[in-house]
Amino acid sequence: MAPKTHLNLIGGRWVAARTGKTFLNINPARRDDIVGEFQASGPEDVDAAVAAAAEAFKTWRLTPAPKRAEILNRAGDLLVQRKEQYAQDMTREMGKVLAETRGDVQEAIDTAFYMAGEGRRLFGVTTPSELRNKFAMAVRMPVGVCGMIAPWNFPMAIPSWKLLPALVCGNTCVIKPAMDTPLSTLNLVQTLVDAGLPPGVVNYVTGSGSQVGTRLVEHPQVAAISFTGSSEVGSIVGQTAAKHFKACSLEMGGKNAMIVLEDANLELALDGALWGAFGTTGQRCTATSRIIVHRAIAEEFIAKLVERARALRVGDGLDESVQVGPQVNRAQIETSTSYCKIAQDEGAQLRCGGKALTDGAYANGTFFAPTIFSGVKPTMRIAQEEVFGPVVSILECADFDEAIAMSNNIPYGLSTAIYTRDVNRAFRAMRDLEAGITYVNAPTIGAEVHLPFGGVKQTGNGHREGGIGAIDFYTTWKSVYVDYSDKLQRAQIDTGE
Ligand code: UN1
Repeated sequence: MAPKTHLNLIGGRWVAARTGKTFLNINPARRDDIVGEFQASGPEDVDAAVAAAAEAFKTWRLTPAPKRAEILNRAGDLLVQRKEQYAQDMTREMGKVLAETRGDVQEAIDTAFYMAGEGRRLFGVTTPSELRNKFAMAVRMPVGVCGMIAPWNFPMAIPSWKLLPALVCGNTCVIKPAMDTPLSTLNLVQTLVDAGLPPGVVNYVTGSGSQVGTRLVEHPQVAAISFTGSSEVGSIVGQTAAKHFKACSLEMGGKNAMIVLEDANLELALDGALWGAFGTTGQRCTATSRIIVHRAIAEEFIAKLVERARALRVGDGLDESVQVGPQVNRAQIETSTSYCKIAQDEGAQLRCGGKALTDGAYANGTFFAPTIFSGVKPTMRIAQEEVFGPVVSILECADFDEAIAMSNNIPYGLSTAIYTRDVNRAFRAMRDLEAGITYVNAPTIGAEVHLPFGGVKQTGNGHREGGIGAIDFYTTWKSVYVDYSDKLQRAQIDTGE
């Protein structure tokens, strides 16, 4: 059967790209399974989408926020009904196992209901004026047309973190999904349309970063850019956005460490390490990619972790008994393979995995064996650089202080975790770990949508997604002074007597 062809959504109409070109969305577990055909759009398609969004902004910004929120609420209800179908679509297009793709859709549902609630908050500030008979307040205003560039690893959740707060704040949007996962983003956009979103408020344009993403970031009518992806690309996005004085939120890489101290509940730490390192096949920005374990327990911890990692069932995520799905594409397999070589060349010890799986049922997909390196030193590239695959490095520490220093000794600062039963050390870690997120007795993954999400150092540029962090990004402050004294009162000059 020929794959279904999907179109762009521009100004409320489903349209083909003006380039006349398309690309295929391929199932990474079975590369002969074509999930769909999508538009390989160009700059002109972006221009049309931005024009539609700019037009829609004129009325959407004036729609009362509680009314905007009602649409999000309906979208949340629809996502609940469609959860299973959308999870199946997502596993098919990007590989992670069904339990996790259900979680991904759930994250969009949670975001929809949270942001719907914001429609009746969007709190601003009132404060006394220094002058008599004068009222002062600061209110939140929408920013305008927002451009969004989304990644493939959370292809519905992360677009929902971007679209839903932007919408409730009164902005209109143009979203570019990752080329590996256009269907899940389309499912979210279709749900918003079905929930009653007016034409042009959200526009969906598929295609490459160089064709679609670049134009979006450069377009003079786009007021804000939200990007999730690599630090390398994020740096270019940030520099380009700066040239055009756009607001720009960058959410990038991580090299997240889990610290396991000698007093930790070892079984709990093992459960957390396995889930943090190999959940989503290690393809989370928050993935546990370093484990810093106290040397008194290192030998036992490593032996048990290796045993458990070897027992993980790798396969097609649509099979409910599978625990680790494929990597999303061949390029990711190449990255994992090359880092395994780098690690061994640097002197790290390969304890399990270390290679792509290609035999039998694996032959048709992009699978990689869960991989553990021990004897990793803090300065090795395998301890410093993001792999974005099922590859975890184990470092040994002598004490708490060394563990914190090792955790901080990287260019990134997204997520961190500490396993200890000592409340004093837990609180010191919460204070001293350089990261946007710290977990105590839980792995580095598992952020909830109503808390700020993001990181420090090369992980981000100071903005946050999630909860109030997103509301802050998608609004701009307007300070308003109302003088009801009927005379000229000069701030800083007149006394207010
Ligand atoms: C990501 O790591 O790429 O915190 C996003 C988590 C998920 C979102 C992860 N809720 O693990």
